[in-house]
Amino acid sequence: MSVAATHRRRGILRAMMGELHGRYAGAGTPLALLTASAGGIYDRFGYGVATLDRWVEIDRPRAVLRPGTPDPRGVRFADTEEVAQRVPDIHRRWCAGRPGAVSRSDRWWELVLLDRPHQRRGGTARFHLLHEDGYVGYRMDSGVCRIADFFAVTDEAHAALWRVLLAMDPVSTIATRAVTDDDPLRWMLTDARAIRTTSVADDVWARVLDTPAVLAARRYAVEIDVVLQVHDPDGYAGGRFRLRGGPDGAVCEPTDAAADVHTDVPALGALALGGVRAHTTARAGRITADDPALLRRFDAACRADREPYAGTSF
Ligand SMILES: CC(C)(COP(=O)(O)OP(=O)(O)OC[C@H]1O[C@@H](n2cnc3c(N)ncnc32)[C@H](O)[C@@H]1OP(=O)(O)O)[C@@H](O)C(=O)NCCC(=O)NCCS
Repeated sequence: MSVAATHRRRGILRAMMGELHGRYAGAGTPLALLTASAGGIYDRFGYGVATLDRWVEIDRPRAVLRPGTPDPRGVRFADTEEVAQRVPDIHRRWCAGRPGAVSRSDRWWELVLLDRPHQRRGGTARFHLLHEDGYVGYRMDSGVCRIADFFAVTDEAHAALWRVLLAMDPVSTIATRAVTDDDPLRWMLTDARAIRTTSVADDVWARVLDTPAVLAARRYAVEIDVVLQVHDPDGYAGGRFRLRGGPDGAVCEPTDAAADVHTDVPALGALALGGVRAHTTARAGRITADDPALLRRFDAACRADREPYAGTSF
């Protein structure tokens, strides 16, 4: 979002957000997502931080795999034509298993694989490592391997791809955003300090526009039956809803029953993908509940089994 410097602080951004949300709600879009270059703007419009952008650098010579780490093999270099044919399907399968994953259109893949000089940012052309259930796209840049894409549908593909990356002898450092906090790579190394987190910032912000649709679209780690009161000054997501859910799915409907849990709408957006704990936002006063045991259960139910990760910047 940008407003001309000559016209700022006159309500234009607010008007644009109102127009955008009105159109989304009219089209039945349940959840709006954005990434932001400034952190102090979007909470007021109902957005909560739902995924993190975590940069890590791996000291490759120090990153030694523990004896017994799986060695599934099956990785080879591929050319752009083969990647164009095979990787969109691998990516679709990866998205289906990863909370927060952002899908890619065919056009998006075409642009990625064009690999124009301005996309390289001083690095080499893109190299492609292909496994039947995984893909890595990377560039070399003065001894640093910069991973542009890393998608592994299975743990076998994950181990096989990392084995190849860590065996790249002349490489000093591997830089990537794909090693989330719950990535098993740390547990595959003799010295986990070989992985150094260089920055962590907000990535995807989520704004709930249709509470029952969003809460019924996800699964819950344990069975939960709770009445939520959602406070949304702009109206879209607000109301009282009964959520009944579990590992196999959920139902969420408006109700007149008394509320067990109160939440503001940015905190609900943060919960939607399962990466931010209800317990954490409750401690900040953004979620409240009279019954601490119910809040604990709600917290446990909402947590995703994997850290949400977008995998695509937009
Ligand atoms: C940020 C930007 C889009 C705001 O546009 P604007 O038309 O001036 O904003 P509005 O007048 O509609 O203000 C809407 C609200 O945002 C607040 N706000 C505006 N700019 C802000 C900023 N840079 N930081 C924090 N809050 C800001 C206003 O105080 C106002 O709050 P309120 O309605 O709760 O009182 C504009 O300043 C801009 O283009 N900045 C450069 C690009 C940028 O930073 N984009 C945002 C990051 S993705």
